[in-house]
Amino acid sequence: MNLARLASLLLLSAALASGPASAETQLKVYLSSQGQPAVWRKALDQFEVRNPGIKVMIELGGATSDLQAQYLNTVMSAKDPSLDVLILDVIRPAQFAAAGWLSPFPEKDLLAYLRPYAEANTVEGKVVALPAFADAMFLYYRKDLLDKYDIPPPKTWEELAVAAQKITDGEHNQNLQGLSFQGKAIEGAVCTFLLPYWSQGKTVVENGKLIFDRDAAIKALALWKSFVDKGIAKKSISEVATDDTRKEFQAGNVVFAVNWGYAWALFQGEGSAVVGKVAVSRLPAVTGGEQSTCLGGWEWGVSAYSKHQDEAKKLAEFLSGPEISKFMAINGSLLPTYPALYTDSEVTKAAPWFADAVPVVGTARARPVTPRYNEVSEVIRTTVNAVLAGVATPAEGASQIESRLKRIFH
Ligand code: GLC
Repeated sequence: MNLARLASLLLLSAALASGPASAETQLKVYLSSQGQPAVWRKALDQFEVRNPGIKVMIELGGATSDLQAQYLNTVMSAKDPSLDVLILDVIRPAQFAAAGWLSPFPEKDLLAYLRPYAEANTVEGKVVALPAFADAMFLYYRKDLLDKYDIPPPKTWEELAVAAQKITDGEHNQNLQGLSFQGKAIEGAVCTFLLPYWSQGKTVVENGKLIFDRDAAIKALALWKSFVDKGIAKKSISEVATDDTRKEFQAGNVVFAVNWGYAWALFQGEGSAVVGKVAVSRLPAVTGGEQSTCLGGWEWGVSAYSKHQDEAKKLAEFLSGPEISKFMAINGSLLPTYPALYTDSEVTKAAPWFADAVPVVGTARARPVTPRYNEVSEVIRTTVNAVLAGVATPAEGASQIESRLKRIFH
């Protein structure tokens, strides 16, 4: 018998001897597979060390925000008590709170956090979840290749197209894509649509009212389609989800990529073909427009059905605290929710571009805020996908979005 087995047998008999009343609480945390679960495990280990009576297990959700939400909707509608703490995309606390699925934090104020997250987690004056990490969409690019061709980081999509074409022509590498972005019908594709739409100074919803600009929508959809038509993005971009973009860039096959904060740590990590070759900037604007980005981020909610309310809240507080925010920034390049951490020297050593990221997160725009967000998301992401797959023209796509949104906001 090896030592490990002997040790576990001894532990087992010790547990049996002390009877079933050993006062250990098991918590289950629902995590996103797109948000550095292996690094969160280390944070959970730290919590367990400090709270000897509590063990924390992870349940991993699907690969995209929408798949995760689908699963959680099923679990929470069934009032299933098996999940205690839930990581929630920033677009969800309002809906979850309205459904009565979250247990609020009555004593908590959110003044220490970046403002968009304080706002997203406060519903009708109540704190319904605590910030986990901040996020926004950025432009990742191959600094080595831009330097080689003496090209500055593009400020407009037009400049990006020219740069991408020049580099891919010069490199003679069949596998090198000029630009990768999210065209699959996932939550991220809502942001794909909104980036150039917002960049034209337009808004979708204001004070709960739809103010859709069809011409701006056509231009936004046509912009993405033009990248496919010019061969700058790959033909099958309609099958590309966030983590596909991340993997292809990491393999060295992409010059420019639209992606979220988490990708940075992976680009610098083991097995990456682009270590030391990557830089990050603001996303380009449409010509004559403003550089805008989509606000992302994730929050910790405590399930209203958890049988371990106190322990679950303790864990959410711990995970939302500055110590773990810093740990996740350094080890997982998840953007901090505390402003001061953006200039913390250990953080900027791990992710130098964080030093310039506060204003980006601070001015990032939120996706439409409405209790019917799920439907809004579905309308936009399926249409973006259809246009990129070539089954609808940009004009048809814009009309579809307009008429379907009108039904939601009638
Ligand atoms: C990132 C963002 C999240 C967004 C998702 C879309 O995880 O943080 O807010 O909805 O990407 O793919």
